[in-house]
Amino acid sequence: MTTSVSSHDADALLVRRVVVTGAAGFIGSHLCQALITRGVTVIGVDRRDPSRHSIAAQNLADIRDHPAFIFATGDLRTCAIEPLLIDADVVFHLAAIPGVQPSWGADFDDYVACNVSATQRLMHAVTRLRIPRLVVASSSSVYGATGGRPSAETDHPKPASPYAVTKLAEEQLCLAHAARSECATTVVALRYFTVYGPRQRQDMFVHRLLTAASTGATLHIYGDGRQRRDFTYIDDAVAATVAAGTVSLPNSVINVGAGTTTRINDVVELARRITGAPIDVRSTSARSGDVPVTHADPSCVRHLLGWAPATDLLTGMTAQRGWLASSRPVAAEVI
Ligand code: NAD
Ligand code: UGA
Repeated sequence: MTTSVSSHDADALLVRRVVVTGAAGFIGSHLCQALITRGVTVIGVDRRDPSRHSIAAQNLADIRDHPAFIFATGDLRTCAIEPLLIDADVVFHLAAIPGVQPSWGADFDDYVACNVSATQRLMHAVTRLRIPRLVVASSSSVYGATGGRPSAETDHPKPASPYAVTKLAEEQLCLAHAARSECATTVVALRYFTVYGPRQRQDMFVHRLLTAASTGATLHIYGDGRQRRDFTYIDDAVAATVAAGTVSLPNSVINVGAGTTTRINDVVELARRITGAPIDVRSTSARSGDVPVTHADPSCVRHLLGWAPATDLLTGMTAQRGWLASSRPVAAEVI
């Protein structure tokens, strides 16, 4: 079926078949689900095999048997990429190692290999096959410490962690390929701002906070809790991503963030209100590379993608809490 999946229908590209890398992850699995619902055939690629990894299995449970979903286990550092991309109208590249803290340590080589070198392999295949559109998941972390001002896409990036450096390299690498005169692929880099909601990664704050509220486990706050984040609900992040794959655009970098920031301590208070549970909070030392504020300038995403967030933090956290209550706890796992 040929489907126009954008809300900007007049400008929409025709999208029948897409590839989603990082499909077994938090954002990737939601994106696959949203695209399938819109009648698109989705080839999902991830190095986590859902028959062996419990988080991947949980993330893909709702779509794994859907006839419009084809899952391929593959590590983009080494696998044959071109066969996966044949006939794709859009590649959504979400596969990466996320998270700021582990990037300071021994894992750095993996960050470089998965976020940068694997992206170079993917871009060779995407451009050789002349795939019309590549959407790449970048990160608010590329801005670094901003002094609290809203970050616009034209700001000079100052990544404050090794992870953020790899995400900046990743988006710029995709854009460098797209800028070559012979390149037929348009690249849209989305700088997501702290995404939360059902299936959020277990290392992330809202997941840990709501888990602490339901289990009585201690929540450790890094620093004084006055750091602020521009939180983005998963369905809103997915809506922006679908639009980025389908709206007619030149090569672009676009923030995906509402432009509203909330203190971590205030998020704890919200969780107390939602759950009615006492939460045992302890302060521990601040972490390097953990920026004091992320704050999106949303002008571009509004203008180019017609995007505005539909879900506020209270509603989104309530949905995440409902999901946590109804899902089986899954142990964190090492790949
Ligand atoms: P996630 O860890 O849940 O998903 C990433 C997926 O990529 C995982 O399933 C992992 O197995 C896969 N992957 C990693 N390396 C791979 C490789 N070499 N080959 C194949 N698959 C590989 O993370 P997420 O939170 O869903 O993040 C998705 C993307 O969005 C990442 O690129 C991340 O940097 C970016 N991002 C996320 C957030 C957020 O708040 N979650 C914010 C900004 C940017
Ligand atoms: C998140 C993602 O983890 C990154 O992958 C992504 O690139 C980034 O968003 C982004 O927006 O670009 P972060 O904002 O640090 O990074 O997200 P959380 O892990 O949810 O942390 C939010 C805040 O809570 C941070 O200040 C963190 O230090 C703090 N935190 C987190 C705690 O105090 N305790 C915890 O147990 C976890």
